Amino acid sequence: MSTPLLEARGASRAFGGGVFDRQQFVAVADASLVIPEDDPVVVAIAGESGSGKTTLARLLLGILPPTGGSVRYQGTELRDLDTKMRQTFRRQVQAVFQDPFEVFNPFYRVDHSLTVPVAKFFPELSRSERRQRIEEGLQAVGLRPEETLGRYPHQLSGGQRQRIMVARALLLDPRVIVADEPVSMVDASLRATILETLSRIHRERGISLVYITHDLTTAYQLSHTILVMYQGAVVEVGEVEQVIKAPKHPYTQLLVSSIPLPDAKRRWGEGTVEVTHSGPTVEEDVEIPSATGGCAFAERCPHVMPRCRQQRPPLVQTDAGRAAACYLYEDAAVLSEEQVAGLSYGGR
Ligand SMILES: Nc1ncnc2c1ncn2[C@@H]1O[C@H](COP(=O)(O)OP(=O)(O)OP(=O)(O)O)[C@@H](O)[C@H]1O
Ligand code: SF4
Ligand SMILES: [Mg+2]
Repeated sequence: MSTPLLEARGASRAFGGGVFDRQQFVAVADASLVIPEDDPVVVAIAGESGSGKTTLARLLLGILPPTGGSVRYQGTELRDLDTKMRQTFRRQVQAVFQDPFEVFNPFYRVDHSLTVPVAKFFPELSRSERRQRIEEGLQAVGLRPEETLGRYPHQLSGGQRQRIMVARALLLDPRVIVADEPVSMVDASLRATILETLSRIHRERGISLVYITHDLTTAYQLSHTILVMYQGAVVEVGEVEQVIKAPKHPYTQLLVSSIPLPDAKRRWGEGTVEVTHSGPTVEEDVEIPSATGGCAFAERCPHVMPRCRQQRPPLVQTDAGRAAACYLYEDAAVLSEEQVAGLSYGGR
C-alpha cells in the first residue's frame, strides 16, 4: 500500500495522571485506522456514549496529541508537520461537529465562517472568485446562497447551520471529512438529507469520510467499514456488512440485537435506532480495566471466562475482512497493528 493519507497507528489518549489528578483515564487505547491516499473510503466509528469516539476524532484532526502510538498525515507525525504541510493538512482534513451552533460566533453573519477560511486557504483568489466558491459550496449542500448569506446564526435552523458547516468543509477542497455525530441534533427528515449530502460528496468528489455515530443503522447505510469502540478500545473492526450482519464480539452482538436488521434499500434516517445499553456507564464509577487488566466488557459479557479478567484481549482475525478483540476466538490469529489498520479501510 502507498503511504496513507491519514492514519492512526496504535494511537492512545490518556487523561489525568498529573500531580493533582493522579488517576489516569484511558479514553482511547491502541486505535489503528487508515484513510488511503488513492482510494476514498467511508469509515464509521460507532459505540455508546463515552466510548472514546470524539477523542479518536480529535486525535485524527490533530486537535489533541496522542499520549501513545502515532497519528500521521502523508507519513509524517502530526506534531512534526512543517508550516506548509500543516497548512495543507488543516485544509485537507476537515471536521463537521455535532452542534454547529457552538462553532458559529453569534455576533457575525454566517458569511464570516465561510469567507475567513476561504481567504486564509485561497489567498490568490479574487473577491468575486471567493464569493463564487462560497456560493458553489452552499449549493452543493442544497442551500440557496441568497437565503443563507447575510443572516446571523440564530436566524437559521439547526439543519441549515449544519449544512453550512458541511459547505464550509467542502469549499476548502478537503480530502477527508471527519463528521462527529453530524446529524444527532437535527430532526429525522433533515438527518436523511444531510447524510445523503455527505454520501454524494464522497461519491462525486472522492472525499473520504470518517463518520462517527452511536446509531448503527446510519453507520450501516453510509459506510464501507466500521470500528466498534467500547470504553476506549476498538473491539471489532472490518467490513460493515459482516460486522453488522454477523457480529463476532459480544458487545457488537448486544448492539446489533437491539436494532432490527437494517434494510439496505431503506431511505436514510427511517427507522433509526440508537445504540442502547443496559449495563453500567462510565459515569457510574465503574473501574475501567487498564490495558493489562482484562476485557473492558467483562462486567456485561454473558460469555465471560476467568482469563477475560486477566489481560486485555487483542484483536484477532475471526474471518477475512474483520477482527474482534475477544477470547472466544482462541484459535484465531492475533493481528499486527498493520493488519488491523488494513481492515479499518477494507484493504487486504
Ligand atoms: N479533556 C478530557 N479530560 C478528561 N477526560 C476526558 C476528556 N475528553 C474526554 N474525556 C473522557 O474520555 C471518555 C471518552 O470521551 P469521548 O468524548 O471521546 O466519548 P464519545 O464516545 O465521543 O461519547 P459521546 O457519544 O457521548 O459523544 C469519556 O469518559 C470522557 O469523559
Ligand atoms: S474477552 Fe471475554 S469478557 Fe471480553 S467479550 Fe470476549 S468473552 Fe466476553
Ligand atoms: Mg462524542
